[in-house]
Amino acid sequence: GEDRPTDLLHRPWRDLRISVMDRCNFRCPYCMPASVYHDGFRFLAPEARLGFDQIVRIARSAARLGVRKLRLTGGEPLLRPDLPALVARLVHIPGIDDVALTTNGVLLDRHLAALHDAGLTRLTFSLDSLDRTTFMRMSGGQDLCERVLRNLDAAARMGFPGGIKINTVVQKGVNEDSVIPLVARFRHTGIVPRFIEYMDVGTCNGWKQDAVVPSARLLEEIASRWPLHPLAPSFRGEVAERYRFADGGGEIGFISSVTAPFCGSCSRARLSSDGRLYTCLFATEGHDLRPALAEDDERARKKGVPDGHMQDGPMPEENMPEGQALDRILSDLWQGRRDRYSEERQSRTADAPSERIEMFYIGG
Ligand code: GTP
Ligand code: 5AD
Ligand code: SF4
Ligand code: SF4
Repeated sequence: GEDRPTDLLHRPWRDLRISVMDRCNFRCPYCMPASVYHDGFRFLAPEARLGFDQIVRIARSAARLGVRKLRLTGGEPLLRPDLPALVARLVHIPGIDDVALTTNGVLLDRHLAALHDAGLTRLTFSLDSLDRTTFMRMSGGQDLCERVLRNLDAAARMGFPGGIKINTVVQKGVNEDSVIPLVARFRHTGIVPRFIEYMDVGTCNGWKQDAVVPSARLLEEIASRWPLHPLAPSFRGEVAERYRFADGGGEIGFISSVTAPFCGSCSRARLSSDGRLYTCLFATEGHDLRPALAEDDERARKKGVPDGHMQDGPMPEENMPEGQALDRILSDLWQGRRDRYSEERQSRTADAPSERIEMFYIGG
C-alpha cells in the first residue's frame, strides 16, 4: 500500500528497532543491574520470542508503512541463534535500505563474517571504556575489554558499507575519564565514537539527574584538545549531534536526550522480542502484534495458501500472508502516537511513571 501514516505530532515512521533477545551476557548497572537480573530471573521462554518468519512479516509491513531503517538490538542480539540468517532476509525487504546491529561485541568473533556476508549495513558497539577496570565496572564484572577491542579491530578490517560506531554511556564519577582516551583511540580510524547521556530508562538503575554528564561539557573538553566543527544532520530525526575534527581526524557524536531532547523528529518504534510494539523508549505499555499475525495466518489458510509454519526452513516469500491485519494495526498504532517523553521529562521527573518498560527488553 501507498499509505504512509504520520503520528499525532506529524512525524512519519522511518525506523524500526527490533529486539531479538531479552537476555544479555553483560550486567551493565545502568541497564540490567546484577542485583535484579540474577541467575533466578525469569527471562522470556524461547517459545515466547517471535520467530524469524514473524519478524520478517512485521518488518515487511513496517516497510510498507514507510520504515526504511531496521536496527537489531537485544539484550544482546548475538545470543539469538542464527542471527545472520535473519539479517540476510531483512536486507532484501522492499523499501528497507539499512539494516544495523547494536551489540556489546563479545560474541562477534564467531559471527562477524556471516553477518558481513548476510549484507549487514552497519555495526554499533556499546563500549563504555578502554580501561580494563572501568570496563568491568560498567559491564557488571566482565573482564572482556580486550576481546571486544579485538573484535572491533576485526570488524574494522572487514569494513561495513555504513560504517562502524561506538556507543558510550557516560556516567558522572564512573567513566567520565574514559572519554578522552576513547576519542584519542578512534581518531583517524573511521570509527565514530558517540557519547550518550545517561538516561532514566527502565525502573531499576536508580537514575539521578546529577549522574548525567551534559554533552556540552564533554564537547568543550574534547574540542579544547582537538578543535571540532559541527556537522549538519545527515537525515531528519538523527539522534546524534555530529562534529568533525578540524584536522581531518574523523567524526564524533553526542546523544543528548536529557539536556537536548529530540522527540520533535522522532521517527522510531521498537519491537520487543515477544512481539509487542512500543512507540517510545519510555513507553509504559506495548501493543501485542501476535493477534494480528494470527489473523493474517487465518486469512491465508482460508485462501488455501500453503502453511509456511509447517516447513522446516524459512517461510517462502510467496507463502507469506499478505499482512492486512498487521498493516492495519501498525498504521493505527503509529497514527495514534503522541509520545514525547524526553521533552516532558523536566516537568514530570517528580512523578515519573513506575511501570516503564526496561531498556534491555526493547533494545535502547
Ligand atoms: P543511528 O543514528 O541510525 O546510527 O542509530 P541510533 O543512534 O538510532 O541507534 P543506537 O542504537 O546506536 O542508539 C544510540 C542510543 O541513542 C540508544 O541506545 C539510546 O540510548 C539513544 N536513543 C536512540 N533512539 C532514541 C530515542 O528514540 N529516544 C531516546 N530518548 N534515546 C534514543
Ligand atoms: N542511558 C543511556 N543509554 C543507555 N543504554 C543502555 N542503558 C542506557 C541508559 N540508562 C545504551 C547502551 C547501548 C544502547 C543500545 O543503549 O549502551 O549502546
Ligand atoms: Fe546488555 Fe547492552 Fe544492557 Fe549492557 S547496555 S546490559 S550490554 S543490553
Ligand atoms: Fe522518541 Fe520517546 Fe525518545 Fe522522544 S523519548 S525521542 S518520543 S523514543
